[in-house]
Amino acid sequence: MLRTLRSSTTARRLTATGAAALMALSLSSFSAHAAPTDSDPTPGPTPRVVGGEKAKQGEFPFMVRLSMGCGGSLYAKDIVITAAHCVGGSGPDKSITVTAGATDLKDPKAIKVKSKKVVVAPGYAGQSKDWALIKLAKPVKLIKGRTALLPITTTKAYDKGTFGVAGWGDVKEGAGQQQRHLRKAKVPFVTDAACKRAYPTSPGVHFFPKEEICAGNLQAGGVDTCQGDSGGPMFRKDNKGKWLQVGIVSWGDGCARPGKPGVYTEVSTFAKQIAKAARAL
Ligand code: ARG
Repeated sequence: MLRTLRSSTTARRLTATGAAALMALSLSSFSAHAAPTDSDPTPGPTPRVVGGEKAKQGEFPFMVRLSMGCGGSLYAKDIVITAAHCVGGSGPDKSITVTAGATDLKDPKAIKVKSKKVVVAPGYAGQSKDWALIKLAKPVKLIKGRTALLPITTTKAYDKGTFGVAGWGDVKEGAGQQQRHLRKAKVPFVTDAACKRAYPTSPGVHFFPKEEICAGNLQAGGVDTCQGDSGGPMFRKDNKGKWLQVGIVSWGDGCARPGKPGVYTEVSTFAKQIAKAARAL
């Protein structure tokens, strides 16, 4: 299994790009509609995202869960940013339920809102440019300790350092088990040069340095996002100590493997396009 993406939409898109080499790869690794279950009965420092730990309620109030089995972030009260490979394409779409305001997906106080419309990144064809916006049927109320917006970086100045990631996805490569409780981890920036070496061009699935940003423990592995975390934000603090989105969980070779960092959509590259698309939604 080289590159693992989870939606059948993506599989179709990849096929459509004519990149024959990609078809040999495993593209769907868990049911998008599998109900999240709590596979984490043992509290404590057990490594889990992969190699992370449980997030506290209110710690990442911008995190949302999408019903097709992806993550996302609140860009505006009625707009969620996610990965293009998580959605079915641009147009009216009432099929997605967005859960906000809760780390525990079964929290009775969780806020659930339906989608209204989706916009996929211009030019997205199954590789890179992996971002999309979801317009919600109604705005999410901003409640202290529950919900907040996550601004996106508009400069490359924050494309370095150590990032935060969070999600309800697998805690282990291949587990196919979505989590009931949000998990978090810290992943260091991996340079374009090192990421290029990690993902050489051949046979066709590779890293696009201008459009993607890599993170993880390059040598040791052990910490990463994984299946079901896609679309969620990679973030860090800005100079004023405020959370800022720098990436979107996109893909990787397995999860948390040594020498195989996580690959994220480079938000700084698309900041203008994202803002423009959001204004038009
Ligand atoms: N494509 C995966 C998803 O749909 C995300 C994979 C992230 N992988 C990684 N090794 N960082 O959930």
